[in-house]
Amino acid sequence: MTPVPATSETIDAAAKTLRAGGLVAFPTETVYGLGADATNVRAVAAIFEAKGRPRFNPLIVHVPSLDAVNSVGTLTDAGAKLAAAFWPGPLTLVLAKAPDCPIADLATSGLDTIAVRVPAHPLAQALLRAADIPIAAPSANRSGHVSSTTAAHVEADLGDRVQMILDGGATPVGLESTVVDVTGMAPVILRLGGITREDIERMLGRPVAVAGEENITPSSPGMLARHYAPATRLRLDARNVRDGEALLAFGDQVPTHSGPIINLSRSGNLAEAAANLFAALRTLDAAGAAAIAVMPIPAYGLGEAINDRLQRAARAE
Ligand code: TXA
Ligand code: MG
Repeated sequence: MTPVPATSETIDAAAKTLRAGGLVAFPTETVYGLGADATNVRAVAAIFEAKGRPRFNPLIVHVPSLDAVNSVGTLTDAGAKLAAAFWPGPLTLVLAKAPDCPIADLATSGLDTIAVRVPAHPLAQALLRAADIPIAAPSANRSGHVSSTTAAHVEADLGDRVQMILDGGATPVGLESTVVDVTGMAPVILRLGGITREDIERMLGRPVAVAGEENITPSSPGMLARHYAPATRLRLDARNVRDGEALLAFGDQVPTHSGPIINLSRSGNLAEAAANLFAALRTLDAAGAAAIAVMPIPAYGLGEAINDRLQRAARAE
């Protein structure tokens, strides 16, 4: 499917497609999502099929408002605080499933928890309201690939597998949502993303662990060691660039290089770098370089999530 510009007509058509059990790719503020009716098990199965995604990896369910969350999951005190602070926005909360939760078990991979997000992007909001159903949506890429931040990325990865691709331009955040499990005594960040650890800690008034660190077992399959991966090898923390390499630069102190080069942010702005990251990886991956040298990125704020993605992408298979 070729992407279609998002207009009120195409959004209505997309809503009908979703209600009929079809797959629609749509923009959110983080990355493009591959959406299906979360209450329809066959539609949800089609998502796993299209992405080549293992069925043990559960999906995020998107709803238009905090009110709509209660029918699918139960908010704890910590969850309510984070929801009030960051929804709509790039935050996903893992909640206990509501007793009469209408979501297909396949969407949650049979778990008794559910990941829920209220996206802020106006086109995602319009689609959720027009469809009037909860939408299960993983990132719109082949399983294990880099997430899509433009409609063209979606077309390249999944063009022959979706009924519709709504084009709403480049996604502004560029990293997936931060996933926080609030079901336990202490909230745990399962995946770093568009909301920083510092923001979450400030809101909760306490330090918050990230799964995989401090002996916390990764319970989010998005934390699989190799993920978000281009085919070309990455060389991280590069302070120089070798012959035959492409360069993923950051900041204004860039080594001279005559080969392919993309600067994530000349001014050293981490939000700008996050927004550019996945498109840059796709472009440099296509440049036919021996490796992609990646300059050091600061490890605070959004830099923590950027480094997380780069480390997963760099890991050998
Ligand atoms: O920004 C985003 O989150 C995008 C947009 C489209 O909303 N979606 C996205 O979905 O990144 P996906 O499927 O690529 O990543 C969802 C992550 C995975 O790491 C999955 O394992 C985790 O959320 N997850 C989903 N349900 C879970 C659950 N019940 N418990 C723990 N982790 C869960
Ligand atoms: Mg994904």
